[in-house]
Amino acid sequence: MMFPRRCLIFTLDITEILAVSNFTTIAPNYRQTATLQKSASERLHALLQISRTDNVLDLGCGTGHLTQAIRAQTDGTVVGVDPSEGMIAEAMRNHGKEIEFHVGSAEALDMPLQFDAIFCNSAFQWFREPERAIANCHAALRPGGRMVIQAPARKDYCPNFILAVDSLKEDCRTRNEYSRFRSPWLFLETAQDYAGLFARAGFTVQTAEIESVRQRCSPAKVFEMFESGAAAGYLNPDCYDLPLPPGYLADAREVIARNFQSQAGADGQVELLFFRIYLLARKP
Ligand SMILES: C[S@@+](CC[C@H](N)C(=O)[O-])C[C@H]1O[C@@H](n2cnc3c(N)ncnc32)[C@H](O)[C@@H]1O
Repeated sequence: MMFPRRCLIFTLDITEILAVSNFTTIAPNYRQTATLQKSASERLHALLQISRTDNVLDLGCGTGHLTQAIRAQTDGTVVGVDPSEGMIAEAMRNHGKEIEFHVGSAEALDMPLQFDAIFCNSAFQWFREPERAIANCHAALRPGGRMVIQAPARKDYCPNFILAVDSLKEDCRTRNEYSRFRSPWLFLETAQDYAGLFARAGFTVQTAEIESVRQRCSPAKVFEMFESGAAAGYLNPDCYDLPLPPGYLADAREVIARNFQSQAGADGQVELLFFRIYLLARKP
């Protein structure tokens, strides 16, 4: 059966359907939809072991809801940095009284304070110049300070997302434009590859592990997760090397959403698989 344009199998707000996805457009709903990033951050907190006196930088802090969890663990200074003005505006609106936030990227990081700890959840894959970003983090830590990252890892970081996005190649409405998509992400294949980046910047790597995480959820929930992060690449005109015609983003959303629906088993649930790097590094 053919579905008319913009008739999705599950309901999406029309304004959202028409919207370009980047972190500024995602920001207003991010707190509610970023369940994947939030659950992944729990192990990161356990790795970092924040003490009551630690000064902590949350790098790629987004809307600051995880920065707020850091604020609750220390009486030291807590700073959130993110290049998205929309994300920082949300963070300031919600937590601006108790946390300092700045617009800025990891590549341009230049902090007057030396931190005891840097927390970086679900942002490392977006770093355009990882060597420069890691060198800046090294400079922003006091000797003995530590840094943790959690990020999707490996080219097949989420086979479900990849399968759904690959279906854009099969649909005549999206095939041509999708062939001009250029991935903005950094995905390394092994934990040793991630550890090597940090070791070359002068860090001692204490933990580096790629974990596989499985969870069952509805196709609508999978789509919501997709919208909270991956869409900022796949559905962002800046990641295509041609101008996108009107309607492409709406068509692409429809094709992807339908593919998630087709991934559901007899119980209506999708088995979602994610590979994530967890890394803890210390500045000697
Ligand atoms: C999926 S969100 C994660 C936000 C938050 N850390 C969390 O876990 O909810 C990814 C964030 O990385 C930020 N980001 C992208 N490129 C970055 C860069 N070069 N340096 C620092 N942050 C970056 C984005 O603006 C976005 O807010």
